[in-house]
Amino acid sequence: MSKVTQITHPLIQHKLAYIRDKNTGSKYFRELVEEVAMLMAYEVTRDIQLEEVEIETPICTTKCKVLSGKKMAIVPILRAGLGMVDGVLKLIPAAKVGHIGMYRNEETLQPVEYFCKLPQDISERDVIITDPMIATGGSAMDAISALKKRGAKNIRLMCLIAAPEGIKAISDAHPDVDIYAASIDEKLNEQGYIVPGLGDAGDRLFGTK
Ligand code: PRP
Ligand code: URA
Repeated sequence: MSKVTQITHPLIQHKLAYIRDKNTGSKYFRELVEEVAMLMAYEVTRDIQLEEVEIETPICTTKCKVLSGKKMAIVPILRAGLGMVDGVLKLIPAAKVGHIGMYRNEETLQPVEYFCKLPQDISERDVIITDPMIATGGSAMDAISALKKRGAKNIRLMCLIAAPEGIKAISDAHPDVDIYAASIDEKLNEQGYIVPGLGDAGDRLFGTK
């Protein structure tokens, strides 16, 4: 089973409230999504590997820990996952960024892959997939499968809001993938939207509706 972590830091809850608010416009929405992604990245990277190095302070020599050579990749699910990339990059500036394009067919709710460009050495990198919303989980499940098919092994999934249905589906299909969410909401409605959710993340980020 996937490890599921809800990151409920007060700053994240505060910002998420304004992200959910339908009166928040695209500019502020984008800023908030980036900020929450940055705060979440702190927790998502809690267990990344360190190695010991010797450092000379102005006083003496001491042993310190720095990030080991293990490389990372951030892979947003287009479009909405893009809104989280810069926030994560603020904490992990050396990460490479891949892109995977998925959209949901609004009638069948089935995801359709339309683009995939990943760092060449994806199989050697720890991967963080970003997408603000996990609803049925279909898009994230297919994105994870697409990455695994191209060699990715160590994958974590980071979202702002997840529905219980989506978490279960991903955990059943990809029990090796840990899931991080700022909130696990109540349910999906008949149109496949998360309740209470935040509406359509892509449209709100890019002002397309
Ligand atoms: C949204 C969201 C997820 C997907 C979640 O993308 O960003 O990728 O829906 O739904 P699911 O869990 O049921 O698959 P959307 O398909 O609206 O595309 P967009 O980001 O281009 O707007
Ligand atoms: N995609 C979104 O952007 N929002 C939802 O609530 C569900 C899927």
